[in-house]
Amino acid sequence: MALKLARRGTSRHSTGPLAGAVVVASGKRIGYGSAVSGDSRPAALIALEEAGSLATGATLYTNIEPCLECDQPEAYVSRLLELAPERIVIGHRSPVRGDASEGILARLESGGITIQIGLCEDECIETNEVYYKYRRTGLPFVTVKFAESLDGRIATSSGDSQWISSEVSLRFAHQLRSEHGAVLVGIGTVLADDPQLTVRLVSGPNPIRVVVDTRLRIPDTARILLDAAAQRTIIATTERAELSRVSKLENLGAEVLVIAAVQRMAGADSAKALKTAPDSGAAERYGVDLTSLLGALGQIGIASVLVEGGSAIITSLLADRRVDRLVAAIAPKIIGKGIEAVGDLRIERLRDALTFRSTRVRRLGGDIIFDGRLNQSIDRSKE
Ligand SMILES: NC(=O)c1ccc[n+]([C@@H]2O[C@H](COP(=O)([O-])OP(=O)(O)OC[C@H]3O[C@@H](n4cnc5c(N)ncnc54)[C@H](OP(=O)(O)O)[C@@H]3O)[C@@H](O)[C@H]2O)c1
Repeated sequence: MALKLARRGTSRHSTGPLAGAVVVASGKRIGYGSAVSGDSRPAALIALEEAGSLATGATLYTNIEPCLECDQPEAYVSRLLELAPERIVIGHRSPVRGDASEGILARLESGGITIQIGLCEDECIETNEVYYKYRRTGLPFVTVKFAESLDGRIATSSGDSQWISSEVSLRFAHQLRSEHGAVLVGIGTVLADDPQLTVRLVSGPNPIRVVVDTRLRIPDTARILLDAAAQRTIIATTERAELSRVSKLENLGAEVLVIAAVQRMAGADSAKALKTAPDSGAAERYGVDLTSLLGALGQIGIASVLVEGGSAIITSLLADRRVDRLVAAIAPKIIGKGIEAVGDLRIERLRDALTFRSTRVRRLGGDIIFDGRLNQSIDRSKE
């Protein structure tokens, strides 16, 4: 229940952890807490304060150390000690902010509270995967999401992709959007689909929109630019873009981020950092350095990015091992020749194939939803 409360928390868009807490006394639940906008108290304190005087001697269950990323940890821990639960069960001890965690746990224990750590650990880690990655690396957690046919196509050969998946899957896609700090697509997708990239089919916050566009080919009439002044929109480009286009887009309300250029390997669509300045005769061979872009997005406080395609961007990110989670809506359709979900990754032996852990598969409106965490994420290897 504490995990469920954590996932409901409003800090999904922020850079802090998701925390949920339940207070139990004599086998009854007497207090519940999760991060709520407008309430700066940590989830554990919300739950204990709801239990009031009954909190004394009770057990508090929480997925992560209490008060870890709150603005006044000292004051909140003191208040927690006043409420005097007998025992605190912590699902998983945060692998980041070790010193802060140490301090909090030591104070609670010296105040006479028994601390127990380790319950539903895998679920606790997954619940805070965004926070852990962002805190550890400064890079956003990257989820790739696409809808594909049974034969692995995300569009027909003429570029038609609307819609491969069912309406229920589309709603799920909007749900995913609302759960990420930013949504990112390549210029190919903007030119083919003219998407809005907002949350419409469910209620929830809109993510920041990011378009990867080496030479600023985005047309002024793109739907994403129509409300760019109201809805934060970033166009990630390179020095190959014309300055006049930069100012035009800025006047339309978009932010233009100039990122290092990389050489995109022929056929693989992967990116290799340029050692020298790109030469003007071969513009199509260059692209935006997606790793630098992720770093720049991390620096402006974006902790999670949902990549919605298309094929070239997905391929580059997979080739660079920058994908943490992949969600595929597989529709019972066969397209034949078309645009493949993932291009050439230069994998020649099956043992080098990208693999997943903690995979989940379910049915949604006739589609199969695959949801898994990549084993080969570069940032995971630093854990
Ligand atoms: N079914 C689905 O879920 C789904 C989702 C999205 C899109 N789609 C479909 O996918 C198709 C578009 O895919 P796409 O592969 O043509 O385009 P894309 O991946 O959306 O954009 C690719 C373009 O991004 C730019 N780029 C800049 N830096 C890059 C880098 N490091 N790596 C890769 N690309 C980089 C390049 O253009 P510049 O050199 O000009 O910058 C490149 O041509 C459309 O038909 C669309 O309908 C389907």
